[in-house]
Amino acid sequence: MPAQLIDGNALAKKVRLEIATRTAILTAKGVKPGLAVLLVGEDPASQVYVRNKVKACEDVGMHSILERHPADLSEEKLLKRIAELNQDASIHGILVQLPLPKHIDSHRVIEAIAPEKDVDGFHVANAGALMIGAPLFRPCTPYGCMKMLESIEYPTKGARAVIVGASNIVGKPMAMLLLQAGATVTICNSKTKDLAAHTKEADILVVATGRPKMITGNMVKPGAIVIDVGINRLPDGKLCGDVDFDEVKYVAGAITPVPGGVGPMTITMLLLNTLEAAERIKI
Ligand code: GUN
Repeated sequence: MPAQLIDGNALAKKVRLEIATRTAILTAKGVKPGLAVLLVGEDPASQVYVRNKVKACEDVGMHSILERHPADLSEEKLLKRIAELNQDASIHGILVQLPLPKHIDSHRVIEAIAPEKDVDGFHVANAGALMIGAPLFRPCTPYGCMKMLESIEYPTKGARAVIVGASNIVGKPMAMLLLQAGATVTICNSKTKDLAAHTKEADILVVATGRPKMITGNMVKPGAIVIDVGINRLPDGKLCGDVDFDEVKYVAGAITPVPGGVGPMTITMLLLNTLEAAERIKI
């Protein structure tokens, strides 16, 4: 029997309805949640992502601004703009789309965002808070993955979780969230020897490598929950994940599709983080 499909679109719709209600309540009290999205350069994938983020804000009744800056914007100018947004009372969340052009130091840029407006959760203060189990903002993609696990009421306590990919955006924060949820966590990276030996042990397998269809059916434990964070464009124009869906769906107990899985949940968690940033404002 094929795996249960974890429908990210349906779950995102449900959570966004709750966000829209809370946004309306807060707006009526005089605080309209606001997100600023900054894009530097013309990376086509990033352009689509930022447009989707701003559109999602509008759909739940939030204020949003999208700033497109030329690829040759100086780091100094970007830092100055962030400093202004840090002071702007109409903006509760600031997101600088990554990757940034090579002449800009991403680390310095992320550290310039006020931690209480860092809705991506990438600032070292927020990464540290997450690590000690007192998160202010959970990074959006791992947060969305946790919501998907919750939606199927998967018992994470004592489960073996394996994460393939050790990025600051997904793999590392995902490990912290699963650890907090009581799972026993392994993080694999591109140097891991005998990857399949690890993945086959996983009750929960989270894959975020950017390598199309790298997880095949024989790498998955029967009945495992498989969360596919990858979005890759194939030469024929179709999108696919890092998991070979057509094989793995016959092995896994539950699986997220691409598209329509983690993607819509990531944006939803960005909205939730922005709403919560605004709700923390004293009125
Ligand atoms: N680029 C890819 N994913 C993300 C994300 O979650 N946040 C930002 N700011 N940039 C990204």
